[in-house]
Amino acid sequence: MDKISHLIDLNDFTPAQWNSIVTLAHEIMSAPMVYAGACRGKIMGTLFYEPSTRTQMSFQTAMLRLGGGIIGFDNPSTSSVAKGENLKDTTKIVSGYSDILVMRHPLEGASKAAALTADCHVINAGDGGHLHPTQTLTDLLTLREEKGSLSDLTVGFCGDLKNGRTVHSLLKALSCFAGNHFILVSTPELKVPMYIKDYISASGKSYEEYTSLEEAIPKLNVLYMTRIQRERFGSLEEYEQQKNVYCLDERKMRLAKKDMIVMHPLPRVDEIAIPVDDDPRAMYFKQANYGMYVRMALILSMLDYGLESKPLLSGKVMNTVSCTNPKCITHTEKYLPHSFRRSGDVLECEYCDERILI
Ligand code: ASP
Ligand code: CP
Repeated sequence: MDKISHLIDLNDFTPAQWNSIVTLAHEIMSAPMVYAGACRGKIMGTLFYEPSTRTQMSFQTAMLRLGGGIIGFDNPSTSSVAKGENLKDTTKIVSGYSDILVMRHPLEGASKAAALTADCHVINAGDGGHLHPTQTLTDLLTLREEKGSLSDLTVGFCGDLKNGRTVHSLLKALSCFAGNHFILVSTPELKVPMYIKDYISASGKSYEEYTSLEEAIPKLNVLYMTRIQRERFGSLEEYEQQKNVYCLDERKMRLAKKDMIVMHPLPRVDEIAIPVDDDPRAMYFKQANYGMYVRMALILSMLDYGLESKPLLSGKVMNTVSCTNPKCITHTEKYLPHSFRRSGDVLECEYCDERILI
């Protein structure tokens, strides 16, 4: 195989590369049959340690539509993970059977850990509450198709901004385009993590934080609603306090601009009332459909067009230092090198981005 590239964080590629993937997705949408045999003979492995409808099935459909084949599991308990096999060995084996591996895992940094030993390209399909870069490619395609631009947008994010990995990845990506401004709507408990806010500021973009969706909605070009991520809470009680705080309904939609679009990575629970589905500004079902085309473009770009990515680890290995994030993959996969980027008095874990003061 030629040089292996990985997509763990969208920033592994440049904005010019994201644009070329989105442009290719647009071309595939307009002439899908041209690409029907483009990946004949190639195999994609999908390792889903966490539930999924859209990501798993859109990746699988994408590969099948390109003429390739698929293997994998959607429930680790039916694989040898149930016998205690570690991530390294599972990845090593399945990457030997595949040309491209797509992984979703509940722990942060798991895809990066897998990529360290994989013998083929690895794509992060969601690592805990950390990142979800292929959802972001889907979101960028949706914005380009439906708003005509990735710049000069006021984008509102509402819901679980702490644990919502789609929010983290999209904020990082949209920070790279000129003139974007972000309005972050959440309860105090579920605010965007500091490292993402610092990223926005370092990119020269601005954000405001609100607790009221009614106050924020009239200002927005795009509203990105999210589900409260029940599976990331320490207790059911904490989740119960947060659920149902925000619900986008027809009354709130009347406060919005006539051309504001509503996006949502889905699944929806109660945060968007069903009647909103009939509003022409509701874009979430179309958005999910764009996901399949963008994944076709991504697979093609990685397998056939030799897209180059950044190195997986660029910091310093310090095995005597432990990441302080209990959800970091380094705590369960103990053989992993503890690798950190240093920024002043702070070490940043290269798997989960947790900051450790030294
Ligand atoms: N499906 C998205 C994810 O896996 C959003 C969500 O689950 O709420 O991150
Ligand atoms: N948007 C998304 O990732 O959906 P699934 O969790 O169903 O894959």
